[in-house]
Amino acid sequence: MKIFKHISRGGCLVALSASVLGLAGALSAQAATPMPELVQKNGKYALMVDGAPFLVLGGQANNSSNYEAALPKVWPAIKDLHANTLTMPVAWEQIEPVEGKFDFSFVDALVTQARENNVRLVILWFGTWKNTGPSYTPTWVKTDNKRFPRLTNKDGTTSYALSPLYDSTREADKKAYVELVKHIKAIDGDQHTVIMLQPENEVGVYGAARDYSKKADALMAKPVPAALLKKYNKKSGDWNTVFGKDADEYFHAWSIASYIDDIVAAGDAVYPLPTYVNAALKDPLNPDQPAGSYASGGPVYSVMDVWKAAAPHIEFLAPDLYTPTSQSYEATLNWYARKDNPLYVAESGNKPIYARYIFSVLGRQGIGFDPFGFDYTRYSNHPLGTTLVNADMVKPFATVYKLFGGMDREWAKLSFESQVWGVSEPDDHSDQKLDFGPKWNAVVSYREWQFGLRKWDPENKNGFPEGSEIPSGGVVVARLSDNEFLVAGLNARVTFGAGEANAKKGMLLDRVEEGHFEDGKWVFERVWNGDQTDYGLNFTGEPVILKVRLATYEQ
Ligand code: DGJ
Repeated sequence: MKIFKHISRGGCLVALSASVLGLAGALSAQAATPMPELVQKNGKYALMVDGAPFLVLGGQANNSSNYEAALPKVWPAIKDLHANTLTMPVAWEQIEPVEGKFDFSFVDALVTQARENNVRLVILWFGTWKNTGPSYTPTWVKTDNKRFPRLTNKDGTTSYALSPLYDSTREADKKAYVELVKHIKAIDGDQHTVIMLQPENEVGVYGAARDYSKKADALMAKPVPAALLKKYNKKSGDWNTVFGKDADEYFHAWSIASYIDDIVAAGDAVYPLPTYVNAALKDPLNPDQPAGSYASGGPVYSVMDVWKAAAPHIEFLAPDLYTPTSQSYEATLNWYARKDNPLYVAESGNKPIYARYIFSVLGRQGIGFDPFGFDYTRYSNHPLGTTLVNADMVKPFATVYKLFGGMDREWAKLSFESQVWGVSEPDDHSDQKLDFGPKWNAVVSYREWQFGLRKWDPENKNGFPEGSEIPSGGVVVARLSDNEFLVAGLNARVTFGAGEANAKKGMLLDRVEEGHFEDGKWVFERVWNGDQTDYGLNFTGEPVILKVRLATYEQ
């Protein structure tokens, strides 16, 4: 098992040495509930919260909901959503309006109220970059180009974005970030209501591939850092010689990633919460899209290796998904679910069609899903998100969260320790195949009635279930043992089949139990049989969890 912060950074040394030495009596309340951490074992990931795998069923508030006055409009939406985590920005301008004078009253209110509402928090640090711009920096930063220089565009004009190349900017941001982390430790070091931090937000720059200032040109003429050469298996040289046409973007990605890594390392030295950086995306289906037409230097898929080399203190890189088509969404998930990067959707649109994608995320061993825009401040970010600003906005997401909320800890454990699969309904509603190894497989189909087979109605005289033209289905499966699976879904049919190893045998559904989890234990409700199993296992719009045991007979 690789433990990211605790071993690599020496954070939580007290808890570690106390447990190693068996000094149980000396353990503080903080050691009794361990720090949140990202762990990796056998190529799988878990976000550990209170010492056990945790699945983030998140809701991100709107950008300007980070004030105490707005919180009464946030909690009801998070409750209706059945989220277990609220993601909330904390802005540099808000905590350090005057240089060196800090105000954490909002953080105090947020943490207190999160506990009252029984949810965890992910805090977004809106610092040097928010959607690549400096709008959330304090006035004393954003109006002082001399001390905090902006990038130079290729044509010599000044960019809107701050340059990552200045110690003055980085040190000022670092100071504020570290104060924030210190404060979180002081108020939450024993309870861990705050489980993760996102330093900065959608970093990079639009309209340029990099800073084209003289300072930047001089740095690009220097040798590429050894860690990056090693990552790409390249021989020493300046940036253009080593990376050719990619040099500008790689240089900018390296500059931003090492800037943020330095800030995170300083925060970790105080209190090592897991951290991730979110990405404004590059078209996942067009690797040739030119840098600058997307946020150049941000952790887009084509520079993830640059980020991994430059930012060892950042646990993972996470996509912000606002591309609704299943082809594009799935392609992005594929880019970010890597051996060296757990899948976590840091943002997703809040239109109903996005809700089903949680099944695809969890099928890739994802550790969380955090769609954007969940509060009742009546702001709609349509066309990225929904037009709805009331309780109807949360409903499709609440349905999936109700399903997973009943088994979030169990699912997270199975995902970490066993095998999981998951698919969501494609835009064309086509069938999908799940392969569970040599013995078993399954076909997932959509727009089915609960009774009967499609082949009985080749002309589709019965039509489709109402509302099914908008894709909303999905299924997850976790292995419980060789022949036993946990299956959960919405608006989909799962038809199990025999794999190669069982090809000569007859297969049967030995037992299908519907139930739920209570305190980590399966609670049996009823057995499905007859019409409920003769035509596959049919999931409707109501959350249902099944335990399925498969068997064979000789024929
Ligand atoms: C992505 C950003 O990260 C969010 O803060 C927000 O601005 C959305 N875009 C758009 O609503």
